[in-house]
Amino acid sequence: MPDLKNTIAFLYLQETKFNRSTIYDRPRPNILPGEPFKRYKNAEKVLLKRRWEGHVDTNDLWSILQKRRSRRNYTGGPISIDELSLLLWSAQGVTAQAGPYYLRTAPSAGALYPIETYVVIERVSGIEPGIYHFDVKGFQLETISRGLFLGDLARSALGQGFIRSASCVFLWSAVLRRTMSKYGARGLRYIFLDAGHICQNLLLAAEALELGACPVAAFFDEELNEMLGLDGIEETAIYMAAIGRKRGEGL
Ligand SMILES: Cc1cc2nc3c(=O)[nH]c(=O)nc-3n(C[C@H](O)[C@H](O)[C@H](O)COP(=O)(O)O)c2cc1C
Repeated sequence: MPDLKNTIAFLYLQETKFNRSTIYDRPRPNILPGEPFKRYKNAEKVLLKRRWEGHVDTNDLWSILQKRRSRRNYTGGPISIDELSLLLWSAQGVTAQAGPYYLRTAPSAGALYPIETYVVIERVSGIEPGIYHFDVKGFQLETISRGLFLGDLARSALGQGFIRSASCVFLWSAVLRRTMSKYGARGLRYIFLDAGHICQNLLLAAEALELGACPVAAFFDEELNEMLGLDGIEETAIYMAAIGRKRGEGL
């Protein structure tokens, strides 16, 4: 299979495999750690709601797993701030503290939490359209910029038009140092696994709330970085998911 072997991906996997003969004498990564939390200190804040009551018994896990689908057909209607709060909490909410670690709903290699969550909001009742950063510790949104960005986002996602009628879109970036300072190049694998866990939590929560959700990984990376004000080196966009009110049962 020379085609597979000729890819940079194959080389990366080979170079980052653990094996028994080198596991104890592999070189330590020479990468400084990153700040564990990102804050936009001077940003205007939007407090989120911790009102899960009324949602917890609506669906059991097994039926949610059975029903979950990637849904791209949205009414263009709004979701509530309570729903958005639940979605954010499901994706990255803090559920316990252990020493310096803020443990979350989704697991993370080494409890290093390299993933930052941003939300592009266009139709959430009570929140101005714009780009927001999720402050995990404070359970609040930090305003990055106001305005309508879903059109730009759809264009940056290779023209995937359904994004325009979403209520909001979750965007995830990776702060590479947080994980790679401990795990070196292999840490990149863990970063993408972390993002997968977070996104799956969001998708299941959306299904439980009877909202439509669709993960999206096809996008022009640097356009997303520019939208979020990321340098693409220390922190880079890696994944996103659209959320909207379901239009019928269609996908
Ligand atoms: C990593 C990843 C990237 C994806 N990227 C896109 C995308 O860019 N656009 C899209 O419409 N769906 C995307 N999807 C959704 C898949 O098309 C979908 O999961 C697949 O067709 C299986 O359908 P299901 O999710 O309804 O089970 C992505 C899914 C994953 C896991």
